[in-house]
Amino acid sequence: MPKKKAKPISNDSRRVATSGDIEVSTYLEIAKELSGERSVAAKEAAPGAEPESIIVIDFGSQYSMLIARRVRECQVYCELLPHDTPWEKIASLNPKGFILSGGPASVYEPGAPLAPSYVYESHLPVLGICYGMQAIAKQLGGQVARGAKREYGHAILHLGEVDSPLFADVPSSSPVWMSHGDRIEEMPPGFTALAHTENSPVAVMGNDDRMFGLQFHPEVAHTPQGKTMLRNFIYRICGCQGNWTMSNFATESIARIQKQVGKGKVITALSGGVDSSVVATIIHRAIGDQLTCIFVNHGMLRREEVERTFNTFRLNLGMNIIYVDGSERFLKQLKGIRDPEKKRKVIGEEFIKVFEEEAKKIGKVNFLAQGTLYPDVIESALSGSKASAKIKTHHNVGGLPAKMKLNLLEPLRSLFKDEVRQVGLELGLPEEMVWRQPFPGPGLAIRIIGEVTKEKLEILRNADWVVMNEIKKAKLYRKLWQSFAILTDVKSVGVMGDYRTYSYLVAVRAVSSEDAMTADWARLPYDLLNRISNRIVNEVPGVNRVVYDITSKPPSTIEWE
Ligand code: XMP
Repeated sequence: MPKKKAKPISNDSRRVATSGDIEVSTYLEIAKELSGERSVAAKEAAPGAEPESIIVIDFGSQYSMLIARRVRECQVYCELLPHDTPWEKIASLNPKGFILSGGPASVYEPGAPLAPSYVYESHLPVLGICYGMQAIAKQLGGQVARGAKREYGHAILHLGEVDSPLFADVPSSSPVWMSHGDRIEEMPPGFTALAHTENSPVAVMGNDDRMFGLQFHPEVAHTPQGKTMLRNFIYRICGCQGNWTMSNFATESIARIQKQVGKGKVITALSGGVDSSVVATIIHRAIGDQLTCIFVNHGMLRREEVERTFNTFRLNLGMNIIYVDGSERFLKQLKGIRDPEKKRKVIGEEFIKVFEEEAKKIGKVNFLAQGTLYPDVIESALSGSKASAKIKTHHNVGGLPAKMKLNLLEPLRSLFKDEVRQVGLELGLPEEMVWRQPFPGPGLAIRIIGEVTKEKLEILRNADWVVMNEIKKAKLYRKLWQSFAILTDVKSVGVMGDYRTYSYLVAVRAVSSEDAMTADWARLPYDLLNRISNRIVNEVPGVNRVVYDITSKPPSTIEWE
């Protein structure tokens, strides 16, 4: 077994374009395609990688990422890695224990993924979850078979006689969430059953070598004691110290950026979104005026957004910001365009042109900073060859001196979104900015159905302002994934005072979601909807009717275009 030593993992230059708060990266993706050039990946350490970590070996469960998040919520650094990751990479993270995730395969099928041998040879604690438990059973000499019936949903876990540190502070009976077809027929030598459910005589197994298997999913909210069990595993069994805090992260990350950048120059595109704001702030803390932020106003932003972003970064934080008002030129490019994808393309391309023009004026630049997050990195690393078509290679932002290759600086690439928000708060960013709902890169352009005009932008800005204001007053802003107005191209008849009107229809959309992949329409209180509707028709000239969108995603999308 190679000696464990903390060292940074290597960075790769690939990531998958994300949705959500990715205003700027959307544009950068387009830039990369346009320029056709490859960037040079920066040799950057994984922040917080040392001195301890829990490694989740991924077998493809839909909950794998959730396991990593739960571990980090216990203040221990955790990485999700494919089951064929070489030991050298694992060792560099100084692992204190392994968690084997669930997965869709059956361990007895030919070619089913199994845990690499170092998981067992390292003598580190192991916790197998569902498929992970079955992998342990199979690999260590037990028997796994298809259960008489599939167990899916709630079950009651009854702890056995044997005392285990895994169950410290866990009641003798508690609900758990099951989702499996296979079951342990025979435990491997040395293992004993530690708990059972009605359908699973071996719902939990363990041995004296700190190896455990759980048939249920401790990481999901439907297993209320799951977090306690994971915490017990991490602290009582793996002996972790718990040093993964966002305050530590910020301090370490600032030091690392200073070391990496030296006297170099960094540029980044600032949008006012959470990720780009935190990236800019942490880099600014590290290297001050060596960072230049380019803030392109494409004219599709919401009311007061430009002023607020500018004030926060230039006036309050004293950053070096190049502000470009591109509203007229973007509008010109959008003239006559109704197709949503065309709008995106036009805005993206124009953004790059403006970014290029401004970047050129700065002179020599060494790094391009981006808000790549950990889910992007995971998706890229785990997707393997099958999904490689989805993966785009990073290229430089075109227009910077032709042969110059920029290093990527991605200080948030080890963080989940909720961690990014915490870092933002640690760095003193206003709560209002840190908790901002995602806003699409092309902005209001894809919330105006049909052609974008100055007049329509004004109507939508005013309507959107009312929605935001009322949602915030009702203290729902943070609870909702997104809430906004859409300006349709439908006009309908109304009556105001003694006059007949023929004006626009505005739609209101509010959704709850975890990750924007699926979303449910929010059950807003009727009186709130009533206030929003009244205010829009009274305060926004050009609108005489308001509707509320009651479709979920799928089949609808969150945005209307
Ligand atoms: P949909 O409408 O596909 O949106 O359900 C999912 C999430 O992605 C955001 N979105 C975008 N973000 N550029 C972006 O940066 C875009 O072109 C874009 N389109 C949709 C949307 O706001 C939601 O959060």
